[in-house]
Amino acid sequence: MPSMAERVRQLAPSATLVVMKRAAELRAQGKDLVDFGIGEPDFPTPEHVKRAAERAIAEDFTKYTPAGGIPELKEAVALHYEREYGASFDPQSEVIITCGSKHALYEMALVLFEPGDEVLVPTPYWVTYPAQIQLAGARLIPVDTREETGFALTASEVERALTPRTKAIILNFPNNPSGATIAPAELEAIVGMARARDFYVIYDECYAQFVYEDSPLSASQFGKENVIVTGSCSKTYAMTGWRIGWACGPPEIIKAMEKIQSQSTSNPTSIAQKAAVAALTGDQGCVRAMTAEYRRRRDLLVKGLNEIPGVRCSWPKGAFYAFPNVTGALERKGLASCTELAALLVEEAGIVTVPGAAFGREGYLRFSYATSRERIEEGLERLRRALG
Ligand SMILES: Cc1ncc(COP(=O)(O)O)c(C=O)c1O
Repeated sequence: MPSMAERVRQLAPSATLVVMKRAAELRAQGKDLVDFGIGEPDFPTPEHVKRAAERAIAEDFTKYTPAGGIPELKEAVALHYEREYGASFDPQSEVIITCGSKHALYEMALVLFEPGDEVLVPTPYWVTYPAQIQLAGARLIPVDTREETGFALTASEVERALTPRTKAIILNFPNNPSGATIAPAELEAIVGMARARDFYVIYDECYAQFVYEDSPLSASQFGKENVIVTGSCSKTYAMTGWRIGWACGPPEIIKAMEKIQSQSTSNPTSIAQKAAVAALTGDQGCVRAMTAEYRRRRDLLVKGLNEIPGVRCSWPKGAFYAFPNVTGALERKGLASCTELAALLVEEAGIVTVPGAAFGREGYLRFSYATSRERIEEGLERLRRALG
């Protein structure tokens, strides 16, 4: 058989998907698992969003759309930035609608990165960044954030990692997997540094609306120069399967992304785009309700984790993940890595987690609390028995 391309042979499958697969195998065998591995809301898509999609089908809005998305949705995205952050993006030239924000980030990687470029990524990081940077032929430079400060990145940590080859930094706050947020002053300083040192700040605000103590924060609050933001309906409106995301940034970059999109997916699904308009322009009460419930779950989970011997969890400020340090548990169990611990927890305790190594940090596990409080209680009880 003729060989496959080198780029795909080097590519690791998504570690979160590997865990999901093992969990699915065990479930198929009838095992009851408490699933802390999930990276998507357990809430249904809001009714008014579903109705908008039904209307789109009834009205035959089922054909190709402009490659970069329908004007109505681009305007809704621009309005969202204006309302939330006081940022003004021109809907036609500075906004692109994509098939989820993962897709926006991938197109951006292809537009901006090439061999020789360095891309700074704070750790712990979302598993997809290394793969996308690698596919674009560039090099990821990890910038370790500190558990003692709740994984909150500082501008001085970024400054130390800069070189003349730095092309961009990819920031994601609230963070997957740590739930950390970034202080506005630090973000502003990083954006200032990007302008002074000529690199891009790519700000992935997939979880921006899910913050518990702070207000939502966007890099676009600090001006548009050298800044590209990506966002998504996936988590905010429990719409992971609809595949609608976006990017806002300089017109020449948006235009280049649109070129790639027109030659790859053609356009995001027409029906899903109409649903996204309803999500962004409709009542935001559903977002507030989900955030309040995530907060209750966070309180329950993090308090419980910190009561378990060998587990130490800093307080997540947003998203729906906790990222406890489990080095004490590894010692107690005589295990060498968090991957071994995650495997043991699935097999022996029926708990699904994702090992921290997948996010660039050994010695941690990621717990998603996009699951009911009853299941969180059950999971904590199992964890106490397994590690106590
Ligand atoms: C940090 C982060 N960014 C982006 C995404 C992509 O989401 P989507 O492509 O569904 O918009 C995810 C999904 O898990 C994520 O965790």
